[in-house]
Amino acid sequence: GMEMRFVSTGSYLPEHVVDNEFLSRIVETSDEWISSRTGIRQRRVTLCEGTACMAVKAAAKAIARTDINPLDIDIIIVATMSPDNSMPNTACEVQAEIGAMNAVCYDLSAACSGFVFALNTAYSFIKAGIYKTALVIGSEVLSKMIDWNDRSTCVLFGDGAGAAIVQAAETGVFESILGSDGTRKDALTCASRYINNPLVSRESMSSDESSLDYIKMEGQEVFKFVIKTIPLTIQQVIEKTEYTKDEIRYYVLHQANQRILESVAKKLKEPIEKFPMNLDKYGNTSAASIPILLDKMNKKNMLNRGDKIILSGFGGGLTWGTTLIEW
Ligand code: ACO
Repeated sequence: GMEMRFVSTGSYLPEHVVDNEFLSRIVETSDEWISSRTGIRQRRVTLCEGTACMAVKAAAKAIARTDINPLDIDIIIVATMSPDNSMPNTACEVQAEIGAMNAVCYDLSAACSGFVFALNTAYSFIKAGIYKTALVIGSEVLSKMIDWNDRSTCVLFGDGAGAAIVQAAETGVFESILGSDGTRKDALTCASRYINNPLVSRESMSSDESSLDYIKMEGQEVFKFVIKTIPLTIQQVIEKTEYTKDEIRYYVLHQANQRILESVAKKLKEPIEKFPMNLDKYGNTSAASIPILLDKMNKKNMLNRGDKIILSGFGGGLTWGTTLIEW
């Protein structure tokens, strides 16, 4: 079968910066607490641009950096847990805006693992010879999903979008371990609409239920899950290849928080310098965090052809995905 190569990246972040000092004026918190526990100092918050709009801007930048004609894009997958609409899906909106009329378009929901899952879906189509060119995007407006009165969550998240264009190639490296554990679904939740029809009385709904509309997180459970699962899957993915840890140039992990990444680095006995971070500026942008970081690294010329890079996402579901790629 064919292998897959990254040909371009793009990202978009809304302009408006919300710093920790601003948050300390709306909830009982402090810059000291937030920075020391999470490493986050700022996040971007959208004032009007939606999930599709930001996805379009990230995609347009990725396309502008290549000579790929949008008509050559075979598939668009948008990973998001915060779409503007239940339908049309975000990917169809991107298609219309960028003029990718030959693409099949759909969204994928896997919280913070969404981009890695979407990339693996694109790879599977390419490997099977079904498609040649894929546009894979992570885009999130998490600011509408959080309770801005809940200090335990509102300090963590940010808005943004990242995109990558991948194409069939003669050579390449792609090894993955993906996983899910629905029995731990309650660790990270955010309810969508409730069942509501003429046969169901709204009054029977408890106040508990009606307050479930925002992101809820069992922080320490999530922390323990990540520290246990991610170093293990990274080791297992590397073992599936001919490479060793020393040959891994970077670990591009979901930007949940600095302490998580430091713990993963320590468990792997790898220097923290191999774990690029930008969560200090953008917070946790869920499915968008990995493609945003990849794009920033790409722009700084940190990525060279042939580099072996680990991508790893983890989050609600629970879901996790670790992939070794060759840039
Ligand atoms: N400011 C001040 N105090 C706070 C804040 C805040 N923003 N948030 C919570 N606290 C308080 C709590 O109320 C609690 O007070 P109490 O002891 O009086 O009850 C105290 O701080 C400790 O709370 P914990 O939740 O135990 O804090 P913890 O040390 O676990 O840190 C954190 C919380 C940073 C969320 C941590 O659990 C963590 O890193 N978890 C990983 C999960 C994560 O990063 N999730 C991101 C989203 S999921 C994902 O992307 C996979």
